[in-house]
Amino acid sequence: MSKKIILSGVQPTARPHIGNYFGAMKQFVNFQTTQPDAEKFFMIVDYHALNTVQDAAQMKQFTYDLALDYLAIGLDPEHSTLFKQSDVSAHTELAWIFDTIITMPYLMRAHAFKDAEAKNKEISVGTFNYPVLMAADILLYGTTTVPVGQDQKQHVEYSRDIAQKFNSIFGETFHLPEPMIMEHVGTVPGIDGRKMSKSYNNTIPLFATREEITKAVMGIVTDSGSDIPTNVRAIHALFKSETELTALYDANKGKYKILKEALIEDIDAFIKPLRERRAELAQDPDRVAQVLKQGAVRANERAQAKLIEVKKAIGVL
Ligand code: TYM
Repeated sequence: MSKKIILSGVQPTARPHIGNYFGAMKQFVNFQTTQPDAEKFFMIVDYHALNTVQDAAQMKQFTYDLALDYLAIGLDPEHSTLFKQSDVSAHTELAWIFDTIITMPYLMRAHAFKDAEAKNKEISVGTFNYPVLMAADILLYGTTTVPVGQDQKQHVEYSRDIAQKFNSIFGETFHLPEPMIMEHVGTVPGIDGRKMSKSYNNTIPLFATREEITKAVMGIVTDSGSDIPTNVRAIHALFKSETELTALYDANKGKYKILKEALIEDIDAFIKPLRERRAELAQDPDRVAQVLKQGAVRANERAQAKLIEVKKAIGVL
C-alpha cells in the first residue's frame, strides 16, 4: 500500500474561527498521533487570499498570525511541514499547466464561482481560477487525503477531475486525492445559524477574548417560539456531549440567558489555554519565521521533484 500523504490549507484572510478549527484545523493536529507515519503538509494559502486581501501590511500580518495560530493549536513543525504557498513557486507554475487543459465552462460550474458571480459582476480571474490553484496545491505532493470542511468538497473533486484529465492526456502522473470531512462538524454553524464564515460576519474567533466570546454568544440569533434555542445548542454541541447537552437544555427550557451564559463558560474554558499558548509563542516572532523557512525548504524539495516529472510528461523538459 502506498504511503498516506495528508495535505490541507487555510487562507490568511482574517482570524480563524471555531468553524475552521473544528471543521479542519483540529484534525491537522490530531493526525500527529492518529497518523504518525503519514506525511503531512499544512499551508498558509496566501496566493488564494490575494483575491481578497490586497494590502501588503495586512497580508503580512494575517500570514504571521495564521502561522502563530497553527503553532498555538499544537501543530508540531517536526511532524508536519508548515509552509506558505507563495514560498513554493511550483504551485503557480503547475496551475498554469492545468489552465491549458481545463475549460471555462467546467470552471463556471464551481459553487464558489457561481456564488461570487451572483454577488459581484466583476470577479477576478484569480477567483475564477481558484480551484485550479487548489488542485495544484494538492496534486504536487501526491496527496492521498485532504482534511477539509464540507464547503471544500467540490474543490477536492475538481482536483481529482484535473488529475484524471492530465493523466489521460499525458500519462499516469498524479494520484487521485480523497476529501476527508468530519461527521457533525463538516459545517459548523455561525451565530446566525448559517454556516460560520469570515464573509458572513457570524463567527466566534478561535482565539477570542472572554469579551469577544460574550459579545458573540449574546448575539446568537434565537427563535423565541421554542423552548430550546437551536442556534445556541448547535454551537454548544462542539463543547459538550449529547447527553450533557440534553440534561442542560431540558433543565433550562426557555431560559435563553442561562443557556447562553453556560455556553460562554464552555467556550472560554476551551479557548483560554489556546489563547495563553498563543500569547507565549508570540514572544518569539523569529521562531515563526524559522518554522516557515524550514517548511518552505521541505515543501520545495517535494514540489520541485513532481514539477520536473510534469515538465517531462508535457515535453518542455
Ligand atoms: P478556508 O480558509 O476558507 O477554510 C479553512 C478550512 O476551514 C473549513 N471551514 C469550515 N469547516 C466547518 N464549518 C465551517 N463553518 C467552516 N468554515 C471553514 C474549510 O472547509 C477549510 O477546510 N480553499 C480552502 C483553502 C485551500 C486548501 C487548499 C484546502 C487552498 N488550497 C488545498 C485544502 C487543500 C479555503 O478557502 O479554506
